[in-house]
Amino acid sequence: MIRNDGPEGRGPVWQVLDRHKQTRPPIWLMRQAGRYLPEYREIRARAGSFLDLCYTPSLAAEVTLQPIARFDMDAAILFSDILVIPDAMGRSVRFEQGEGPRLEPIDVDDIAALRDDGVVERLAPVLETVRLVREKLADDKTLIGFCGAPWTVATYMIAGRGTPDQMPARRFARAEPVAFAELIDRLTEASMVYLTAQIEAGADVVQVFDSWAGVLDEVAFERWCIAPMTRIVKHIRAHAPHARVIGFPKGAGLNLERYVRATGVDGVSVDWTVPLSYARDVVQDLAAVQGNLDPLWLISGGEAMAEEVDRIVETLNDGPFVFNLGHGIRPETPIDHVTALVRQVREGRP
Ligand code: CP3
Repeated sequence: MIRNDGPEGRGPVWQVLDRHKQTRPPIWLMRQAGRYLPEYREIRARAGSFLDLCYTPSLAAEVTLQPIARFDMDAAILFSDILVIPDAMGRSVRFEQGEGPRLEPIDVDDIAALRDDGVVERLAPVLETVRLVREKLADDKTLIGFCGAPWTVATYMIAGRGTPDQMPARRFARAEPVAFAELIDRLTEASMVYLTAQIEAGADVVQVFDSWAGVLDEVAFERWCIAPMTRIVKHIRAHAPHARVIGFPKGAGLNLERYVRATGVDGVSVDWTVPLSYARDVVQDLAAVQGNLDPLWLISGGEAMAEEVDRIVETLNDGPFVFNLGHGIRPETPIDHVTALVRQVREGRP
């Protein structure tokens, strides 16, 4: 298919981020390709390791398109992971079955030795996935690229794994402020070049996942979340002005407004702890809002979920709004509940 290269060809999520009013909100879900889908598990089993799947463009493209085929989502999100950047910088990353990511914890000397030449070249398979998806995706769907925010990626590099409160990274940032600042700088530079390359390969929108933004105090939030994201947004504006940018500073709380104002993002993804009236009255004047159904409602489904979905749509759909979850979809989510959710967001309740 030859793509309509005008704004109308970039799909409904791009349109909302560009502040065009939609009658019903567009919908996509974080982690919409994943273990809750049997067709994902089938390809995952064939691919070998999780990273092999991320680095095999034909399979990664197929997985990216699965939720479009099954649910007719309004946007496809590139299938990859936030930890491909540390992998490409020479910190080998493994995913233990059922346990999450494992890395060799980084120390001060390792930071100086990080490779920042050729990061994007080493991520060529991911860019090839973006191209393949763009070829196959209809004109009226938005293609979303992504990376992890420097702070969140750094937390995994320092601890070597996920932790409940990111204590290792918070300690490291205090004990070794110079080395930590260098790590954040290197990740910021790799991220902005990588995102621009995703846009050149065909992404319309990019989302930056700062899943652990919520554990930082005001000053640290400014330095490690807002400042790097501001640089990333500036770089994208300069190199790919047609692209739109979504930030996801999960758990930012009272730092959210400052994040949106200072970074200049087009949209902000908000988790379920953000009150809807606040999202409407404060945030939507500044940026499009994306969110914020608690993924647990999608597991339970039924009338309780439907009421919550109505409340979200009714409150936020007078302003720029993209329906999403407040965090990624859980593997135990019943597929029928996702189908029901998409129908309700698109058509309302009968
Ligand atoms: O949204 C999508 O469908 C696109 C794909 C995507 C994945 N990871 C695939 C994945 C995206 C956008 C991510 C982002 C990501 N990865 C984040 C930020 C968002 C968030 O959830 O907070 C983070 C922190 C990671 C790091 C990561 N990757 C963890 C902690 C884990 C293990 C936990 C888990 O959910 O399994 C992963 C693995 C991972 N990334 C899987 C998928 C589909 C599961 C691996 C498998 O299939 O075996």
